Amino acid sequence: MKLDPTLKPQKLFNRVRTVGLNLNHWYPVAWADRLKSGKVQAVTLWEQKIVIYRDAQGQAHALEDACLHKGVALHKGEVNQDCLVCPYHGWHFNGEGSCVRIPYFEEEQNLPKKRIRSYPVRERYNLIWLFPGDPNLAEDSALPEVPEYDDPNWLIVEIPAHFNVHFSVVNENPLDVFHGHLHRDLQGWYDPVLVNLERDSQRVQGEYEVTFRNGWLPRFLGLTQSDEEEIKKTIVVGYHYPHCRNTMPGKSNYYFMRSPVGPQETRSFSMLCLKVRLPQWLVNLIRRPLSLIFWRFLVKPFLDQDIEVMESEQLNFHRNPNRRYVEINPVIAAAQKLTVEQYDSYANRKNA
Ligand code: FES
Ligand SMILES: [Fe+2]
Repeated sequence: MKLDPTLKPQKLFNRVRTVGLNLNHWYPVAWADRLKSGKVQAVTLWEQKIVIYRDAQGQAHALEDACLHKGVALHKGEVNQDCLVCPYHGWHFNGEGSCVRIPYFEEEQNLPKKRIRSYPVRERYNLIWLFPGDPNLAEDSALPEVPEYDDPNWLIVEIPAHFNVHFSVVNENPLDVFHGHLHRDLQGWYDPVLVNLERDSQRVQGEYEVTFRNGWLPRFLGLTQSDEEEIKKTIVVGYHYPHCRNTMPGKSNYYFMRSPVGPQETRSFSMLCLKVRLPQWLVNLIRRPLSLIFWRFLVKPFLDQDIEVMESEQLNFHRNPNRRYVEINPVIAAAQKLTVEQYDSYANRKNA
């Protein structure tokens, strides 16, 4: 459905800053290559304490981080073959959460039938993804698509981030291209114009025209030529609940993979895919250091500025949750509506 892209006062949803999460989606919780075989890691996804571990065969598993016996945190335990062993009395749990061994129990005795909760796990794009909702829906629910990931022509920059804010605040940031003002000292974009806006029950998509001033960064990214002063480009912003993606067709794709920790805390496992103007052999040779350089000098300065303003936004929301704010960008109003609707449909389904 097409929406009017005109900038004018918008109807906002104050509820969006406290709304719950639709858990029937895949969420990233860790970089896959950081979880080595035999290692254990505690993660939190929307206030659910979860332990992930990689067994001796290299398979990743996710369990509720509380032992069946007395509730001790299992992330303090260790891996034995395909099991996670509780640190207290040594009960062994397999990847399905079943207790398969109690070291001080006679062989012929029946083990407890009760299980601890296990979560569906997938590994893709060097990320470990969990499905925290109804496990029966996991199979048919798709991960975000990142076609650039396996294409050697693209450089992938991994971007971890942490925000002390509700996920709605984090997601509105890349959707609102008008905040180029904040990055004006970083060779950012300027004069954005919203030219198109559409939405359906799963996503909001907006199209902005922006101007880049010439400089080393836009030139390196192939956005401007040396003899041009400035150039107009299209940025397509997408909110594919619960994740976001900003695209500059043919040049870059920025995937914002969200991992809401709780109502006031969000993690991000994002990826910036860039088509850099360097010979392929050279990119292959220096792929890892190049992506770290991009992270440090291209992404982090922008991200630091964004985090500072978003956390101040969240603080002021806490000081006065009933204050009504004024918005003129219809992309943000549409995104807030989608966030609220997604939660309501999840809650209705759960209560049905
Ligand atoms: S509390 Fe885990 S084995 Fe006893
Ligand atoms: Fe920004």
